[in-house]
Amino acid sequence: TLLDVVVNNDLDIDGYGACEGTVTCSTCHVVFKQEDFDRLAEEAGDEERDMLDLAYGLTDTSRLGCQVT
Ligand code: FES
Repeated sequence: TLLDVVVNNDLDIDGYGACEGTVTCSTCHVVFKQEDFDRLAEEAGDEERDMLDLAYGLTDTSRLGCQVT
């Protein structure tokens, strides 16, 4: 997942992925460019969509980084 990329590369993004991918925090919110969003392999599931609703600055191309593979 994108969260794994951040963790495995020691990227210092303050507070990113606070719930460690258990879909309970939305701190891993990512806004994609439309063309990149259109290329994602899977759409957001119900659990992800519910948590995205709580994300700050939600857009039509928002996803949770811990759910994007
Ligand atoms: Fe918490 Fe993605 S890391 S929802």
